[in-house]
Amino acid sequence: MTALADLADVGRDSRRGGYSRHGFDRADAELRTWFTEQAVRRGLDVHTDRNGNLWAWWGRPGPNAVLTGSHLDSVPGGGAFDGPLGVVSALEAVSLLQHNGFRPSRPLAVVVFCEEEGGRFGVPCLGSRLMTGALSPDAARRLVDADGIILAEAARSAGIDPAGFGPDPALADVGCFVELHVEQGRLLGDHPVAVASSILAHGRWRFTVTGEGNHAGTTEVADRRDPMLPAAAAVLAARAAVVGRPASRATVGRLTPIPGGTNVIASSVDFWLDARGPDTAAVIDDITAAVRDAATAEGCSVAVREESYGNEVRFDPALRDQVATLLGDVPHVPTGAGHDAGILAGVVPTAMLFVRNPTGISHAPAEHAEPADCAAGTAALAAVLESWCR
Ligand code: GLV
Ligand code: MN
Ligand code: MN
Repeated sequence: MTALADLADVGRDSRRGGYSRHGFDRADAELRTWFTEQAVRRGLDVHTDRNGNLWAWWGRPGPNAVLTGSHLDSVPGGGAFDGPLGVVSALEAVSLLQHNGFRPSRPLAVVVFCEEEGGRFGVPCLGSRLMTGALSPDAARRLVDADGIILAEAARSAGIDPAGFGPDPALADVGCFVELHVEQGRLLGDHPVAVASSILAHGRWRFTVTGEGNHAGTTEVADRRDPMLPAAAAVLAARAAVVGRPASRATVGRLTPIPGGTNVIASSVDFWLDARGPDTAAVIDDITAAVRDAATAEGCSVAVREESYGNEVRFDPALRDQVATLLGDVPHVPTGAGHDAGILAGVVPTAMLFVRNPTGISHAPAEHAEPADCAAGTAALAAVLESWCR
């Protein structure tokens, strides 16, 4: 029996609360070991691919394979369910099918994607983007974490050769993919399980505002070039830009003044903007204009860089309908959250299952799903895998 409780102590973050589990860190290594043991216990063959994703095969790898799984990393201070629920459910679905004596007629693999949240290196869905060619290996190798460690180095120290990053020919053998995930709002109502219909377009932009470091006590207002003012303008502009655009989202959730002293006017501020929805280009233009205006008024300069972008995803309607019918006409639910399934949907027929989240909270320690709903999710996933592998 596998349960999320197995992972309860891995990567706990006593400062932020919840979990901080990031690509190629110590928690990630523990999670990989745990996954490998669980897969081997089920008779699956495990290997790590060229991009650091883990695959556990039931049966010999081959054409027209069915793939399921999710990720084990978290946002900083994240909840227990986002990612791990999909991996645990996949392993449990395999157990359920094995217990029932089912023999898949197609190769079936459980996959764990690397660094889905981009919590360490900034780019979300790192492993699936590399695997599908949605991210250039060169750009990936150069990504840097908050401590200045480059991804190439982090991968190497985890035993993965970054020279091998890039599109994975094994993908040509994948016939379809299904990811189970905790729902990240409160859209399921009376239903423990739903199928995903779409994912909002989503991008991340990194701003560096440069001013002049100085003394908080001796520097008169007229002499200040404080980069916190344009940064504050960005926070306010992010809210203003989505008022009247109800399908859009804009968030500044990460902001670092350099050097970061109570009695110091910062010399620069580095912050990230997460924007989603159909009007993202206009939203980014509005916010960038507000930051530039505030920077000009304060004598600061601004550099903006797009770190990642993905268009809206509409899941394969035929597959979505087939899965929804199989599960007893469960609802179709859109989401604003990004997923590896959204990346894979660009290259293979892909479906997603959601498990009800009674709090509606996610990316925070209060994220939750009831055990009975998780069990319903596992049963639903097993039913989908069985029907695809019959
Ligand atoms: C990942 O969960 C995201 O939506 O950013
Ligand atoms: Mn997430
Ligand atoms: Mn996730």
